[in-house]
Amino acid sequence: MKPHRIVPAPCAGAGAPSPLSATGRPLKWGVVSTGRIAQKVTGDLALLEDAVLHAVSSRSSDSAAAFAARFGFSTSYGDDGGTAGYQRLMEDPEVDVVYIATPHGQHFEVARAALHAGKHVLCEKSFTINAAEAQELADLAAERGLFLMEAVWTRFLPSVTRAWDLIDAGVLGEIRWIQADLGFTAPQDPTSRLWDPAAGGGALLDLTVYPLTWALGSLGFPDSVSAVGTLNDDGVDVQNVLTLGYDSGAFAQLSSSFVSSCPGQATISGSKGWLRTGGKLNNPSELVITVDQEEPRTERFEQIGAGYAHELREVTRCVQEGLTESPTMPVGDTLRTLRLFDDARSQLGVRYPNDDA
Ligand SMILES: NC(=O)c1ccc[n+]([C@@H]2O[C@H](COP(=O)([O-])OP(=O)(O)OC[C@H]3O[C@@H](n4cnc5c(N)ncnc54)[C@H](OP(=O)(O)O)[C@@H]3O)[C@@H](O)[C@H]2O)c1
Repeated sequence: MKPHRIVPAPCAGAGAPSPLSATGRPLKWGVVSTGRIAQKVTGDLALLEDAVLHAVSSRSSDSAAAFAARFGFSTSYGDDGGTAGYQRLMEDPEVDVVYIATPHGQHFEVARAALHAGKHVLCEKSFTINAAEAQELADLAAERGLFLMEAVWTRFLPSVTRAWDLIDAGVLGEIRWIQADLGFTAPQDPTSRLWDPAAGGGALLDLTVYPLTWALGSLGFPDSVSAVGTLNDDGVDVQNVLTLGYDSGAFAQLSSSFVSSCPGQATISGSKGWLRTGGKLNNPSELVITVDQEEPRTERFEQIGAGYAHELREVTRCVQEGLTESPTMPVGDTLRTLRLFDDARSQLGVRYPNDDA
């Protein structure tokens, strides 16, 4: 078996065509939410030749209309009487694929509505609050033959795909030790989703998927996990450290924080050398490779848009080819990740309202 568990993204390998170029049948997109990441990802979606910006929904009709006007969507839906804006978007027969960018606490209900309406789904991380919710969505998508993917865009970047190639080629030797962190000092805003238990607030669900990507790509899923962290008065984790153990004797130490300004780097160490990300580990602009105690060598990568085009290209490819999941970000990886996070949360003592739903 190859030493990593993440299948390299076809759209990001050497010689792959631009993710923006036309591939065939256009896809009509519906975007749920007008929040921060919805704006960033939609900016990249608009760059793709095959993307038709069809509909956007929001809790507010005004917000949906302003977003539609800004990005060029044909239609917008806000909450109307007893019907949520996102529900109205699901009832639009023109929408092929839905991108969900609400807080994590709402992902389950919106994705379930999309799948019931026969839409393909790209859903932001954290995919759901827990593995039970994710399993229900996975079963529903499988039953209906619909595409479903968690939006872990980092897996589709050329820099990250190149790292897997180097590891696969044995450049670093046997991988034995990984350190990866992501964190920032989040404003103490009680209205922010970052701190809200109902939204799935906390550093683990918000950030750890990115450091984890480096462990999964280098060593696969671990054989054990131990977690320590600090909770605030609402029981939300403000920072945490996970140690992943592997039967091979390898370890990965992952940390995420809302109270520390962190470098946001991954270091992959093997028996022959190490690789370090330059820029943030969720969107590296560089890989610095040091082997056999020689001088470090740096590879640099150009960014397209805000970095989401490769992920969006993969969704387009999969839907066009009738795939129900992406080999690079399969639903099974999302389920295993959420089981790992459930385990870590029980060690940290973090529970959310969705856990009791
Ligand atoms: N892939 C990435 O790089 C990346 C980066 C940041 C965040 N994310 C993920 O994207 C999701 C959204 O994050 P964000 O930073 O965009 O959050 P945000 O700025 O707070 O926006 C979330 C939006 O969701 C909508 N919403 C629907 N129900 C809501 C509710 N009950 N409470 C609050 N908002 C609600 C709101 O839009 P309307 O007012 O239009 O309804 C709100 O503006 C999170 O799951 C996060 O983890 C991903």
